[in-house]
Amino acid sequence: MSDVFKANPAAPVTGARVIAVTSGKGGVGKTFISANLAAALAKRGQRVLVLDADLGLANLDVVLNLHPKITLHDVFTGKATIDEAIVKAPGGFSVLLAGSGMVEYSRLTPEVRDEFLDVIRSLIPRYDVLLLDTGAGISDVVLFAVSLASEVLVVATPEPTSLTDAYAAIKVLAMQHKRQHVRMVINQTVRPGDGRAITMQLQQVLDRFVTTDTGRSVRLIHVGDIPADPAVREAVMRRQLLMTNMPGCPAAMAVTELARKLDESVISRADVGV
Ligand SMILES: Nc1ncnc2c1ncn2[C@@H]1O[C@H](COP(=O)(O)OP(=O)(O)O)[C@@H](O)[C@H]1O
Ligand SMILES: [Mg+2]
Repeated sequence: MSDVFKANPAAPVTGARVIAVTSGKGGVGKTFISANLAAALAKRGQRVLVLDADLGLANLDVVLNLHPKITLHDVFTGKATIDEAIVKAPGGFSVLLAGSGMVEYSRLTPEVRDEFLDVIRSLIPRYDVLLLDTGAGISDVVLFAVSLASEVLVVATPEPTSLTDAYAAIKVLAMQHKRQHVRMVINQTVRPGDGRAITMQLQQVLDRFVTTDTGRSVRLIHVGDIPADPAVREAVMRRQLLMTNMPGCPAAMAVTELARKLDESVISRADVGV
């Protein structure tokens, strides 16, 4: 059960879907996907906010070329309100950036937990989708950010190291956090169909070695592949959003399709146990 709803059983069942974008290994494309998926969902009429939840190594600001004076850091320290820290991104969505002062928040203290929880709670009624661009791995800050989400999107690339780390992260989510569903996006694929095959292989390994107390294994839901595309690196180098600057390139088209699938497949809160 998500902590947000556990901590507040009276939380309305309406409000934003909170989707954590996470991964086992770093550098697999979480920030690229969070920013561009937000733009694609915004284009579909959704009110979207991306929260830079990679508190220690925030870089959503770099990808979006935004340099706000007020950040989540100021909200956490009580110097500013959430409204003052919310910034409009070029793709028609909102962002809450962590800011460089957040390095001190890379450890999960009780204060960080409370402040994080307060921020998410106040955002839920105001958006249709909250995307949490988390850090990689299974540190307590990452796992806490993921625990606040009603849905998890794990990004992996076809490289064996990325898949081994994705397996390790999903195992922790299933065993310690009782996640029953995990959505998979395979990024930087080379051939069509690669992502589905990889997801099936991961599922087989999980079925064999990971069962939760309920005796059920975690279920992976393959939601899409994003091909390796030189346009992604070009956009990052130019600090531009791929969706708005090169919407016709293969990676942008794949993100559009991902947004469509996510839009059409709301996992009901009963399914995810919240
Ligand atoms: N589909 C892709 N095709 C080509 N390069 C990609 C793709 N996705 C990501 N990249 C490259 O990987 C880099 C790291 O991505 P990023 O989103 O910052 O990873 P993370 O947030 O997981 O650490 C990007 O700057 C980009 O150069
Ligand atoms: Mg990142």
